[in-house]
Amino acid sequence: MKLLRGRVLNFVSEPQGADDTDAYEFHENGAVLVSDGIIIAQGDFATVSLQATDAEIIDHRPHLLMAGFIDTHIHFPQVQVVASWGAQLLDWLNTYTFPEESRYADAAHATRMAGLFYDELVKNGTTTAVSYCSVHKASADAYFGEAAKRNMRMIGGKVLMDRNAPDMVCDTPQSGYDDSKSLIEDWHGRGRGLYAITPRFAITSTPEQMEAAQALVAEHPDCYVQTHLSENVDEIAFTAELYPGARDYLDVYQSYDLLGPKMFLGHSIHLKEREIGAIAETGSHPVFCPTSNLFLGSGLFDDAGLRARGIQNAIATDIGGGTSYSMLQTLNEGYKILQLNNQKLHPFRAFYWITRGNAVTLGLEDKIGTLDAGSEADIVVLNSSATSAMALRMERAETLAEELFILQIMADDRSVQQTYVAGQAQL
Ligand code: GUN
Ligand code: ZN
Repeated sequence: MKLLRGRVLNFVSEPQGADDTDAYEFHENGAVLVSDGIIIAQGDFATVSLQATDAEIIDHRPHLLMAGFIDTHIHFPQVQVVASWGAQLLDWLNTYTFPEESRYADAAHATRMAGLFYDELVKNGTTTAVSYCSVHKASADAYFGEAAKRNMRMIGGKVLMDRNAPDMVCDTPQSGYDDSKSLIEDWHGRGRGLYAITPRFAITSTPEQMEAAQALVAEHPDCYVQTHLSENVDEIAFTAELYPGARDYLDVYQSYDLLGPKMFLGHSIHLKEREIGAIAETGSHPVFCPTSNLFLGSGLFDDAGLRARGIQNAIATDIGGGTSYSMLQTLNEGYKILQLNNQKLHPFRAFYWITRGNAVTLGLEDKIGTLDAGSEADIVVLNSSATSAMALRMERAETLAEELFILQIMADDRSVQQTYVAGQAQL
């Protein structure tokens, strides 16, 4: 048993505004009790410590303890694509990304990169990620193998892509189906791993491959599904040429029955009215990727507009179109994008979003994104004064909301003091 002392923040529901104190519990002198990778209790130190006879006490005061961050869209084979110069989406994919992903055919390379990828995640306080692997089965084996070693709750899948890319990163409808099937068998539900069926996007999948994806989804309704949607205007125009019968971009995925609450639609920026209605109706989840949308010049995500329709948006880094592994930096850039739309991202909602909110979109809020008793003990420890500039600003912070906003705007991996995965310290 471990008793982690600190200032404990736990969200119980989505904050409905700046004054919605019912949405979270905060214990200035708090503690989280962990045993066998599970949270046994959390709350006031005085109360929780009563249950903690002969627990090891780890004192993180004055730092904040909250649930580990969840990144709902990231590309594992793009760790060495981040900061590739000068291109928007389609040129960026062809010039940098597809050639780089071809290197993941090599299992030894994929294994080495998986280790380094998880090192970056935990340094940034991310304890669950939903990842795109490369087209190669070996890359997904490396991804899940390393997650299993570290006992991390990781979701991911090999991309299905059979056209408009170099041969080295293409499968076929049959081989993509067979490899996905065998990966699902090997990794879905094994340890903490969960599989995401991953047709990369309409441009790189033939109708025959979409049919194969449809079959996979029908045969494995408990797996996640992920793809990209309406990120870039040239991408949308090319998709319309490739699928002339589709009513719009989303209709490509909809007509193969891929939509539903398990579907994560990366970017979802330039949506038409019909598409928004269909996303709402099917309970699919748009994924906001702020650093990527700015870096690739893709456009401004309409968070409030989608939410007004009852849609639950997720938020993510999208490394390597995205430029930071930090979900805190993701919130920072997200705040600015929403400012350009005259929308606001309040710190309570921001921290809810990267923890419990993303967990709710995944249907996993009984396991992750929360410090509730019974949850898996994935926990991040945050130092709000990690840099001199933050410490200076913190001198004038009087409320928890102000402190959280300083973290939201100024913080990155330097503020991550410790990350616990299933109760084990990682740093
Ligand atoms: N659309 C299809 N593939 C990708 C990718 O790897 N990154 C981004 N940002 N968009 C994509
Ligand atoms: Zn992406």
